[in-house]
Amino acid sequence: MSAFEKLKEELRRDPKRWLVTGSAGFIGSNLVEALLKLDQEVIGLDNFSTGFKKNIERLKARVNAGQWARYSFLEGDIRLKNICRQGCEDADYVLHQAALGSVPRSVADPNTSNESNVTGFLNMLVAARDANVKRFVYASSSSVYGDHPDLPKVEDKIGNVLSPYAATKKFNEIYADVFARTYDFKTVGLRYFNVFGPRQDPDGSYAAVIPKWVAAVIKQEEVFINGDGETSRDFCYIENVVQANLLSATTKNDDALNQAYNVAVGGQTTLNELYKLILDGLRNRDSSIPEQKPTYRDFRVGDVRHSLADISKAKKLLGYEPSHSIKQGMDLALDWYRENV
Ligand SMILES: NC(=O)c1ccc[n+]([C@@H]2O[C@H](COP(=O)([O-])OP(=O)(O)OC[C@H]3O[C@@H](n4cnc5c(N)ncnc54)[C@H](O)[C@@H]3O)[C@@H](O)[C@H]2O)c1
Repeated sequence: MSAFEKLKEELRRDPKRWLVTGSAGFIGSNLVEALLKLDQEVIGLDNFSTGFKKNIERLKARVNAGQWARYSFLEGDIRLKNICRQGCEDADYVLHQAALGSVPRSVADPNTSNESNVTGFLNMLVAARDANVKRFVYASSSSVYGDHPDLPKVEDKIGNVLSPYAATKKFNEIYADVFARTYDFKTVGLRYFNVFGPRQDPDGSYAAVIPKWVAAVIKQEEVFINGDGETSRDFCYIENVVQANLLSATTKNDDALNQAYNVAVGGQTTLNELYKLILDGLRNRDSSIPEQKPTYRDFRVGDVRHSLADISKAKKLLGYEPSHSIKQGMDLALDWYRENV
């Protein structure tokens, strides 16, 4: 039995209380769903800056009445200390996902990204420490690798960060490290690599590539590729991210604490390959979708050229074993977008 299957049995037997910040967003709402399905008690916290009320409704439809009764929601902003304190009250574990994502958003407005991603993060750390939560797991990002040339990316070799967003995630890791040293507070940082799956927002100028392209192909709109399409990423299905969070929060391995981990699959896909995967997958489902070519345009400021994770550290210390390849994840995501776009 895998470490994750074992953990799920343990949690069902002995439910805990979890705070999930960013719970109306993509990753947060999937974490809430997974926890409720394990009969956990969950508090969600969100200010709806990039998250949606409809994600909470969608969640409700996917759990039973008893599980839904174990969910409570706190609408609020992590830039306010009292909201963070309220959310952390009596929590066993915190899964901190709330932040403003997107490199271009941070390039356009670094102050606002900093307020949620750094000040808000510090507010959450202080509140979680004061509430004596057992573990604080937080969303870092592969963007902290910046211009380091090595591939695959190994956790202890990071370069200069290339965007204000990446700087905020690097600060998160610095603060978490300081809290371990100064207050003996237990944290785990998860460097997500291009996560995708149901409920990721396809709309707006800061949408991530997979939902944006899937929606564009479904609506038969133009698809833009920034650069020559040979830029590559380690795309990671949401179920793998859920697994990494739950294993990190509950690990009994002291050596696994106060560190950052790559969360990915360990596979490299170029944007050209990704486009083909999406187009073929949708055309197989709906033959009326035409064989359309993407439009190439300039590279985007702040983007790294290649990204590929070495996931051996998470495997070794956390027992992480990705359950979904990009292809398996894409099949599930395409079905969801066809029903929800
Ligand atoms: N999706 C990815 O590929 C990816 C990759 C690396 C890191 N991350 C990180 O994972 C986390 C979740 O990302 P996501 O993709 O689910 O994005 P998302 O935008 O869907 O979710 C973020 C949520 O946080 C909320 N939020 C933002 N600022 C807030 C504030 N000040 N107070 C309260 N709530 C606030 C938003 O309303 C939203 O619901 C973020 O920290 C992001 O930086 C995501």
